[in-house]
Amino acid sequence: MIKFTIITLFREAIEPYLKTSMMWKATEKGLAQFDFVNLRDFGLGPHKSVDDTPYGGGDGMLLRCEPVFAAIESVKKTDPSAKVILPTPVGEIWEQSRARAMADGKLGIDDEKNETQHYIILCPHYEGYDERILSIVDYKISLGKYVLTGGELPALIIIDSVVRLIPGVLGGENSAEIESFSDGDNLEYPQYTRPEEFRGMRVPEILLSGNHGEIAKWRESHSGKVDPDGA
Ligand code: ADE
Repeated sequence: MIKFTIITLFREAIEPYLKTSMMWKATEKGLAQFDFVNLRDFGLGPHKSVDDTPYGGGDGMLLRCEPVFAAIESVKKTDPSAKVILPTPVGEIWEQSRARAMADGKLGIDDEKNETQHYIILCPHYEGYDERILSIVDYKISLGKYVLTGGELPALIIIDSVVRLIPGVLGGENSAEIESFSDGDNLEYPQYTRPEEFRGMRVPEILLSGNHGEIAKWRESHSGKVDPDGA
């Protein structure tokens, strides 16, 4: 069982996806659990404020320490071993090897196995966060070299890429094994389903041959590699 507690101001942006398809199946099977904490509940003053202007000037608002620490500590009170993930463009780049390590109970690839498998994902919003928040964070994760408006999409991507690797979540036993990126930078081989011919495009004969040895060789030789230029 892997558990994610998502601290966010925008639960409604995240929850529908987790109630759909494979993520929902994982919950129903008791393989994953998703909880939410509303950061607003820990806001300050009558307006439950969670952000403020930056010292030294500058545009935008920053997440304040107090609500964030209070929200995280409220979760850690019941599970002190829960690890905190902060999606941020300046974090370590998220990769399949990390998703697999986390599905195996280890987030940092070299980490000891974490039996509790409870991760708190803090979704920042606004222009950023007070740097002191990092003192309560275990892992800073970046989804890539671009800037999103908040941590909700990164949280979903992290969760999806991990949960689908948990044995029993995907349909075929080997589905997660043979697919793209499972083996380093290898992309999966081309696949086809019925009909045998569509608008003049035929399925390669070898795949119709029933010769599993030859099919395996064909798939091996047709597995792509990641193209850094995306061409
Ligand atoms: N928050 C904003 N942009 C992000 C990114 N690229 N990765 C992770 N978190 C983010």
